[in-house]
Formats: sequence, C-alpha cells, structure tokens
Amino acid sequence: MSCSMRSLSEDEDRYMKSFQLFLECSSEHQCMQDFIHIMLPDILASIGTGKANVNVMGVGSGTGKIDLEMLAKLHLKHPAVTITNQVVEPSAQQIHMYKVLVSQNPNLDFIKFIWNKMTAAEFENHWNQNNFKEKMDFIHMIQMLYYVKDPVATVSFYQSLLNENGKLLIILVSGKSGWGKLWGNFRVQLCNPEISQYVTSGDIKAYMDDNAVNYQNFQLPSQLDITECFTEGDKKGELLLDFLTEVLDFSSSAPPELKARVLDMLRHPDCSKEVDGRVIFNNSLEVLVVGRGG
Ligand SMILES: C[S@@+](CC[C@H](N)C(=O)[O-])C[C@H]1O[C@@H](n2cnc3c(N)ncnc32)[C@H](O)[C@@H]1O
Repeated sequence: MSCSMRSLSEDEDRYMKSFQLFLECSSEHQCMQDFIHIMLPDILASIGTGKANVNVMGVGSGTGKIDLEMLAKLHLKHPAVTITNQVVEPSAQQIHMYKVLVSQNPNLDFIKFIWNKMTAAEFENHWNQNNFKEKMDFIHMIQMLYYVKDPVATVSFYQSLLNENGKLLIILVSGKSGWGKLWGNFRVQLCNPEISQYVTSGDIKAYMDDNAVNYQNFQLPSQLDITECFTEGDKKGELLLDFLTEVLDFSSSAPPELKARVLDMLRHPDCSKEVDGRVIFNNSLEVLVVGRGG
C-alpha cells in the first residue's frame, strides 16, 4: 500500500458511512435475502433435529439485519427450538445498531443473545483461554474474511467449533466479480498488508479442494451502481470509492496516476458494464456451506 494512503478500516465512522452507501447502491442485501428465503431453509433442515436449543454464531455480523433474517428462517424451520446466538463483532457502533434492531422486534423471545465485542481472532483466543467446549450448530461469516490476517486459518478454527450436523456458511465476493479483477490488478498499491483483504470465494474453494473438504456453493449475482465515482468532487462517488478501494479518502490521498488507473479499471468491461448511461459494477457473491468434517 502506498505510504500516502491509510486504510478505510482505521476510521470507523467513515467505514460505516461508506458501507451504508454501498448497501444503498447495490443489490448486496437483496441477493442475500433471496438466498435466505429460497435456499437456506433446506440447508438448515438437519441442524436442529432432536434438540431443545441450537447454538448459532455470527462472525462479523454488522448491524444484524441479515442475521435476524436467518434466525427467523431457523425458527420457522424448528419452531419448538430455542436459539442461543453468539455475536462476534468488533465495532461498538455496529453492535449498538444490532441491539436497537433487536429491541424493535418484539418477536425474538426465542433467542438468547450473547454479545462479544471482539475480532474473530480475539474471540478465538478468548475461546481457547477459557477452554470452552461447547459446539455450534450454525456459524456464519458474511462478507468479513477480508478483515482477518489469515482467512484459511480463521475458517478452519470456526469449522472446528461445529457440532456433528453443524454448518458453517461463508459469503464472499466471487473471484469472477469486479472485486476480484480490481484486487488482482491493484493488490500491492491498495491492500493493507495487516489483513487479508484480497480474498475471494475462489481462494477458500481452492483451500477446500486441496484439503478434500466437501462444500456446497451457490452463486449470488449482484450489482453495484458506481456511476457517481466518475464525477470529480462528487461526495457520494468519493465515499463509494473509499469502500471500493478500502482506502481512506482515496480521491484526495491516492497519487493521481494511481487514481486514474483505478478509475479506468472500474469502468473496464472486466469489472463493469454500462446500462442506460449508468456504470454497473459486478458485485457477484458466492456462498460456501461446509460441515464439521468437510
Ligand atoms: C462488510 S461488513 C459485513 C456486515 C454483515 N455481515 C453484512 O453482511 O451486512 C464487515 C463486518 O466485519 C466486521 N469486522 C471487521 N474486522 C473484523 C474482524 N477482524 N473479525 C470479525 N469481524 C470483523 C466489521 O465491523 C463489519 O461489521
């Protein structure tokens, strides 16, 4: 990463604003909701069988919107079962918003929430130091493996927490998405070496294939309107550019030559297509589902 630039994740407020804008400009949560409604019930069918309570864990849950939709589906599938839901999320602001969402929903009395304001790695230490032996029935890591140092080791630790019939669900951008192309070209210039950042579903599948781990996978086509990124001085475009590059104030802090090359890449047909005068970035995601033993 060039020394004039800082990582977006160093500024929690700006990260939150750019992520919210990304959600508004993309079909990210819509495609996840479609997956939750259509595919998830079958995936969850086996996990609560014969149990009075199931243990769920969300890693990098954010504001909990997607988590609560999954928990509602789990409840529909197993109405007599109570749920203990561990939330592992380092951002105090996001945990606060998650708790507000829970407080606004009066129908969640079947769920006990355990809040862990920690990174995935801190939670792993906490788990090991306390010698916890409990097993999880359902763990999900949605769009968060970019922020850990070693995604494969993280997947492997959380997989080891699964019960016999437990499922680990991972959602990441697809290697064929615009993100894959952008990072493939600008990894050295943009990525923060302290975290993995540059990781796609293709990397995790390669690890699983190499280690003979069985998994199911589902493609989630998704789009992001990045038109405003190409209007110099547009505040919305600048905020979105921060999210795309993960660089704080990319427009003002990136060397001009790098900025021009990144903007060219974002417009390139490998990353985006033009529809009715708008520039639509390929934000395709992939879901991977793995069991305890692979
Ligand atoms: C792109 S957001 C995704 C939020 C949510 N899962 C969703 O899909 O809406 C990434 C989340 O990972 C969290 N995060 C960042 N670093 C993390 C880490 N090291 N361990 C766990 N979560 C982390 C962020 O605070 C943020 O809530």
